[in-house]
Amino acid sequence: MYNICSPLFTMKRVFILALCITCCQPSQAQKRSAPSTYKSWEAFGGGAENIHYSSLKQIDRSNVSKLRMAWQFDTGDAGPGSEMQCNPIMVEGVLYITSPKLRVAAVDATTGRRIWSFEPIPGRVPRSRRSRGVMHWTDGKQSRIFVTAEGTLFSLYAKTGQLDDGFGNKGEVDLREGLGRPVERVNLNVTTPGVVFEDMLILGSQVGEAHPSAPGDIRAYDVRTGKQRWTFHTIPRPGEFGYDTWPPNTWKHTGGANNWAGMALDRKRGLVFVPTGSAAFDFYGADRHGDNLFSNTLLCLNARTGERKWHFQAIKHDVWDRDFPSAPSLVTVRRNGKLIDAVAQITKSGHVFVFHRETGESLFPLQTRQVPPSTIDGELLARTQVVPLKPEPFSRQQITEDILTTRTPEANRIVLERLRKLRNDGPFTPPSLEGSIVFPGYDGGGEWGGPAFDPETGLFYVNANEMAWILRLVPKAASQANSNGQRLYVRNCAACHGDDGKGSPPQFPSLENMQAKFTEAQVEEILRKGAGRMPGFAHLGDSAVSALLRYVVRKENIAAKTVAPASKDPTDLKYTIDGYNKFLDPDGYPAVAPPWGTLNAINLDTGDYAWKIPFGEFPALAAKGIKNTGTENYGGGIVTAGGLFFIGATNHDRKFRAYDKLTGKLLWETTLPASGNATPAMYEWKGKQYIVIGAGGGKSGAPSGGTYVAFALP
Ligand code: HEC
Repeated sequence: MYNICSPLFTMKRVFILALCITCCQPSQAQKRSAPSTYKSWEAFGGGAENIHYSSLKQIDRSNVSKLRMAWQFDTGDAGPGSEMQCNPIMVEGVLYITSPKLRVAAVDATTGRRIWSFEPIPGRVPRSRRSRGVMHWTDGKQSRIFVTAEGTLFSLYAKTGQLDDGFGNKGEVDLREGLGRPVERVNLNVTTPGVVFEDMLILGSQVGEAHPSAPGDIRAYDVRTGKQRWTFHTIPRPGEFGYDTWPPNTWKHTGGANNWAGMALDRKRGLVFVPTGSAAFDFYGADRHGDNLFSNTLLCLNARTGERKWHFQAIKHDVWDRDFPSAPSLVTVRRNGKLIDAVAQITKSGHVFVFHRETGESLFPLQTRQVPPSTIDGELLARTQVVPLKPEPFSRQQITEDILTTRTPEANRIVLERLRKLRNDGPFTPPSLEGSIVFPGYDGGGEWGGPAFDPETGLFYVNANEMAWILRLVPKAASQANSNGQRLYVRNCAACHGDDGKGSPPQFPSLENMQAKFTEAQVEEILRKGAGRMPGFAHLGDSAVSALLRYVVRKENIAAKTVAPASKDPTDLKYTIDGYNKFLDPDGYPAVAPPWGTLNAINLDTGDYAWKIPFGEFPALAAKGIKNTGTENYGGGIVTAGGLFFIGATNHDRKFRAYDKLTGKLLWETTLPASGNATPAMYEWKGKQYIVIGAGGGKSGAPSGGTYVAFALP
């Protein structure tokens, strides 16, 4: 079988024809069939089950090479460093999309002509500009589109894009309310759509990755009134299951354990599957000794009441930012000849967990492993962690000297020297002061694009990164008292934006040249309230905020009085990190040998790989003959009854590709105006099949775009 540690050039495609999957089964085996019901794209991920599947087959293996651009829609909102990660939805001939500035537009699905547009934050660029799409609800008579921006949920009439005055406060609900914290101290956002169940919207959130951070409660809202219907505390309160996996009262001040990556819904059973991320602070947990339920957990909740039915925690007491990175997929897997309804969840570490949908029992064997302890003052890691024994991970798991880059002898020598100084004990290497390898890195392995599943063949498609990152803890300056702008910056901001303010775009933006992007008042608002994964800093006091502002915007270092932290503030931690650093060679290419990104097709009945190929290229390297290296890629693919697997996602080559879904053979490709870092949508309208993708780019320093491009047969 294919060895995932073999170097690129011996990488072989393994062809296991899916026909085999059905014909080799005992005769009484339940047969798979292609469902015919996936003909539009009415929700994020293609539908409630989030399997990125289309029943359409006008476009198939024989004619895909004739695909042509049908229309383009330019949102006009691309800007420096912007992204556009939206998976469009299509309802009754209308496509609903978001722009890099979070504007929502309804466009004709056959022509790309704009019908209406809605600006959630009028007159200025939103503080946090990430959106993976919108939600749609209808009862057959009325129809609404729900969007979120800066912690507000908006309800719009699907026909006109006007706010529905009957919803919440004149069409808006402040999602910062109801978390048991003062609203002005909550920084929260919803970047990925939740699910619509009956007359409820079920939503997760994106919160700060460092203190202060809001709790990641899962909440359901009434689609008509905007009233909160239920809430599930992912950081349990006294008396709730899991409370004892934290120090007493942690729920009052800590945050995270949030669902930022989307959900899946089993409508028939009334079950919602909700994956969560790490608890704040991501990399040092001295204030949260214990396993920290329900962080890094796949939750199965009763969609009507929010009650927990079962859960599985993948990482105990996470200190590696190992959030579950994508919405789960509701799949069927064959065991002993029977098809079982299951839920599959990918991880940043490159694993696939598959559970029985009702019981939560793992359908592949799991192994509990001893893991190394921490040597950091105050830290207490779990002694063991759990991994699935099958399928094999879809990304390499450990850096060794023999898999370092050999792109040039110089690159090899420099990364080898660096590696020898780092802590590198394989998966679960504890964070350290000298720097620890995290491989695959903070961005996977698996990422938010998420997998696709083919109910007809049982094949599960995952695109993955193979990048190493370096996690280094640094002590925080002892006190904030009698400080100045620069000291405050180092203590509070450098972990994410770097000592030099260059950040690691696009996740953590550069703070150079602020004046070109924002007014001072806008920067101040970001500092006070936070934005996306950035916490707010109003609690430091006015004098400190002014000093930070002067330092960041004008590079002036003025003295500041700061509000001394309460003497025993448990969130005032001793360590922070020295930034979000990828392990790269001196020319900026990955420190490991290729593949740097892969595409994988895994048979979920057996756990074996049907095929695996490198995915993406650096045009500059390809021009020198270094081809097929794979690259970082973000955004998912979709699989079709027409025998195809479509995906954009690659960061650098701007390609949109179609493969034979059974073999991984490339059948068609085109170049997009910017990289297609988003999941496409497929639909049929007026007898014609379309596939559309947002070309937003902006990843790894690639140019940004703001155009949706639709393709169809001539
Ligand atoms: C936990 C990580 C984190 C910390 C700590 C942090 N930031 Fe940020 N910051 C971010 C992220 C992420 C964004 C982008 C927000 C978005 O678009 O979602 C951001 C955005 C910004 C922006 C807007 C820049 C732009 O181009 O969008 C400014 C200004 C800023 N941060 C300043 C600061 C300052 C000053 C501090 C310290 C007081 C700080 N940040 C601390 C993560 C952080």
